[in-house]
Amino acid sequence: MKTLLLSTSEQDIEKAGAIIRGGGLVAFPTETVYGLGANALDEKAVKSIYAAKGRPSDNPLIVHVAKKEDIAPLVREITPKAQALIDAFFPAPLTVILPKADIIPNTTSGGLDTVAIRMPQNETARAVIAASGVPVAAPSANTSGLPSPTKAKYVIDDMNGKIDAIIDGGDCEVGVESTVITLATDVPTILRPGAITKEMIENVIGTVEISPAVLNELGENETAASPGMKYKHYAPKAEIVLVDADKETYKNFVNSRKSAYALCFDGDDVTIDRVTYGSESDDAEQARELFDALRKLDELGAKRVYARMPHKDGVAMAVYNRLIRAAAFRIIDLKKPFTIGLTGATGAGKGHICKELEALGFNIIYSDLVAREVVQKGSPLLDKLADEFGADILKDGELDRALLAERAFADKSHTAKLNSIMHPAIISRCEELAHGLTVLDAPQLFEAHAEDKCYKIVAVTAPKELRAQRIIARDGITAKQAEQRISVQFDDEYYINHSDYVIINDGREIKTQINQILAKIF
Ligand code: TXA
Ligand code: MG
Repeated sequence: MKTLLLSTSEQDIEKAGAIIRGGGLVAFPTETVYGLGANALDEKAVKSIYAAKGRPSDNPLIVHVAKKEDIAPLVREITPKAQALIDAFFPAPLTVILPKADIIPNTTSGGLDTVAIRMPQNETARAVIAASGVPVAAPSANTSGLPSPTKAKYVIDDMNGKIDAIIDGGDCEVGVESTVITLATDVPTILRPGAITKEMIENVIGTVEISPAVLNELGENETAASPGMKYKHYAPKAEIVLVDADKETYKNFVNSRKSAYALCFDGDDVTIDRVTYGSESDDAEQARELFDALRKLDELGAKRVYARMPHKDGVAMAVYNRLIRAAAFRIIDLKKPFTIGLTGATGAGKGHICKELEALGFNIIYSDLVAREVVQKGSPLLDKLADEFGADILKDGELDRALLAERAFADKSHTAKLNSIMHPAIISRCEELAHGLTVLDAPQLFEAHAEDKCYKIVAVTAPKELRAQRIIARDGITAKQAEQRISVQFDDEYYINHSDYVIINDGREIKTQINQILAKIF
């Protein structure tokens, strides 16, 4: 099929209207993204939309109208809240879902008993709909699964040769698709966030809910209120990972990932190849530029992309909603103080692994060293220890470690008491020392309940006999003492069950194991 390229001239708009009226497909600009329009009441025309996009047939389309008066015949009822939204916002980047009238074919509504209605703000869009003389079903004019087109050239990329005409109306101002709200439920619920925000809607009709699928991945057995939410979406060919980090940590992280691309904000201090999507403080700009940025990444041939996380308030919720889907819900959480919590029993060989990680640019915090620091002369912790274990554990203000150990390890309850004083102090000092990509070397990570402060936990294990040999050689202790120390620690199985990754340090190649784990984490 030869696809006509049309302008926004009156003549071309008349042409486009006639094509739609005659059962054809026309892509046209709206304020959100380009739409792929067909007569919503013509099943055959609507079917050809699904075919051109490669869209699953149970994913319903939005029906677009040019005038508010054109809504009533399409729905069984305009509820008072729907009327209030229509009065307050239409024409707008807002779609309302209402019980459908019989004239809406099942093909248009994806077999649902409801229909989505929108009156676009964009003048060309409304002119095309008016010229067609019919309600216009229009999904975003992209191949299903790809980012929605915000420029005519992206529509041409996806649809040239598959549809009758494309109107070039320049860049879309909003850049993300309309807010979709259903009024067919007891409490109005936002199914897709957009430029008309929850706050703006609540100012008109009171409390609305946000569908859980907007911000979270659906579980396997959950059904999406909006069928579109269940499909892979907005995804470029590149593999995208969202990085939740402050500006500084993000910079350190991406700059160490040489062969990847950064999808970041203007002004981010990034040295690897990058594409930006607006400034950090301007969520409308982020919305406008996001899909364009995703398409550019593909044009550049990016394979792996680390995207800076937007916040989730106001219009940014729409940005987050699209980006998290483009990333298939993969997030690297560098907001946690420790990127990696490294743990394992005594003699497993954590020290060696720390050295490797340090060489790779990680900031390493040794909790054993911090444990000494927090009981140095003058530390307020010493008074607490003296209260609990006797004033004589302090000599001239210095801690007598041997005496403390003798008393604290005399029985389990004393040990527990010591830990309850020491662990929180150690962890909070470690948190102070954490910056950028940090590894916390913590033999007692689990005992100190520091798991939740780590993005990922890596355990180092080794067979008992090997661990015993190592600590005998390292600390000059007897076999019996070694056995005693090992017996009070968790066994390998515990570490394996409670960690994300395991390094087996029994003579196998360590570097390879570390690199494999890092490739999985990042
Ligand atoms: O901004 C927009 O809304 C653009 C422009 C072209 O107007 N259109 C658009 O359409 O984004 P589309 O088809 O790409 O997305 C429509 C979304 C889908 O997620 C679909 O599942 C949902 O709206 N939807 C449509 N009818 C629905 C219904 N009756 N109930 C629940 N969700 C519905
Ligand atoms: Mg779409």
